[in-house]
Amino acid sequence: MANARTKLTVVGAGSVGVSLAYAALIRESAAEVALYDIAAEKVEAEVLDLAHGTQFTGSAVSGGADPAVVEGSDVVVVTAGAKQQPGQSRMELAATNAGILERLMPTLLERAPGAVFVIVTNPADVMTVVARRVTGLPAERVFGSGTVLDTSRLRWRLAERAGVGTASVHADIVGEHGDTEFPLWSNARIGPVPILDWRGGEPFTMDELDRVAHEVRDAAYTVIRGKGATNLAIGLSGARIVEAVLRDEHAVLPVSTVLDGVRGIQGVALSLPSVVGAHGARVVAETPMSAHEEARLLASAEAIRAAVEALG
Ligand code: LAC
Repeated sequence: MANARTKLTVVGAGSVGVSLAYAALIRESAAEVALYDIAAEKVEAEVLDLAHGTQFTGSAVSGGADPAVVEGSDVVVVTAGAKQQPGQSRMELAATNAGILERLMPTLLERAPGAVFVIVTNPADVMTVVARRVTGLPAERVFGSGTVLDTSRLRWRLAERAGVGTASVHADIVGEHGDTEFPLWSNARIGPVPILDWRGGEPFTMDELDRVAHEVRDAAYTVIRGKGATNLAIGLSGARIVEAVLRDEHAVLPVSTVLDGVRGIQGVALSLPSVVGAHGARVVAETPMSAHEEARLLASAEAIRAAVEALG
């Protein structure tokens, strides 16, 4: 059953926003799902299309181009902005999408001053820093979808290979949602077994794990080359994050928060396992990692910092 009196607003009626709203409806992530976009004709058509299916879901649908749509939201998920073209990196969208978020965030905050804000717009880590700066909210209340999707991609690959269910793979992608992301292999497990000790088939080797990590890092490029965009899995990832907030789950998910000193990282948003609930997201600062992994995390933080500084 949908959560009582909970409202999700998805901002941006592009393929990611609509897929997220659709996933939230089917999963009954919220009692009400609203869609907001400045393109009136497009958003009104998407709202109608979603509303026409409400006989088969437990949630109400609303939305349109009037910012009043956002009022009463418990969670606002921001997907608005330009998307990657084939071959383009997420970082190349930074300047365009920062401009969009700088204009948009004050309106969203004014209409839903108590909401938790989740930033999906790419490059998600850079946009999380921008959204935080523009709103002045505590870091907990405005965080990015980060590597929740990348982690799902990783777990799917490892689960297929190990012959176990995806939920029985415990492994996380951390860092940037983008080209410098990497898995915390030192802590990865299949069920209770450290991944390199797994004997439910051919043992994993570090070479194979490196190949899997590269595949996951490049997964969005592969999908964009074939169908022009990624939308379905990010929609499901977003709906999952929304549920963790609306149900106050305190679920540990690798979302992107602006860090304040974790491993010396300051003022940059990146993904680490974080406790997600009604408060928003709080990083698990004591997440274990090897010295090599820590060095990679710092390198990822520097890549994000450079992109933030390039915005001026
Ligand atoms: C992806 C987009 C959402 O990784 O960045 O599919």
